Amino acid sequence: MKLLIIALGFSASAIADEPNLERQKELRNMLAHDCGSCHGLTLKGGLGSSLLAKDLANKSDEFLVNTILEGRKNTAMPPWKPFMTEQETLWLVQKLLKQQ
Ligand code: HEC
Repeated sequence: MKLLIIALGFSASAIADEPNLERQKELRNMLAHDCGSCHGLTLKGGLGSSLLAKDLANKSDEFLVNTILEGRKNTAMPPWKPFMTEQETLWLVQKLLKQQ
């Protein structure tokens, strides 16, 4: 339940401020290579679960952002807090939710 208790400093409905274009490219690369190594190159799932929009649709932005920043205990999902800010993570989540 710790996941739910951690207060995130943004509102669920907030639209993420876009990272600058160079950083967007880095984050997209990270998604393909780092996240893709577990979640599959097309993010359909592998060792990690599917990150396709249809499979994330019923989960809240906060829940997903929190999973990415903090990782999931007792699973292979590592915390990404050292590599991206909360705002960048929200941007990434919104990108995942928009993809086909
Ligand atoms: C070392 C393997 C690994 C890497 C690398 C990894 N993940 Fe995961 N991820 C997992 C596993 C395993 C789960 C499922 C955890 C569980 O069973 O609850 C998961 C779960 C998730 C979830 C929750 C999905 C859901 O339906 O609740 C999200 C979102 C996610 N990962 C995003 C990412 C992102 C974004 C990256 C790259 C920045 C990433 N992951 C990199 C292994 C990984």
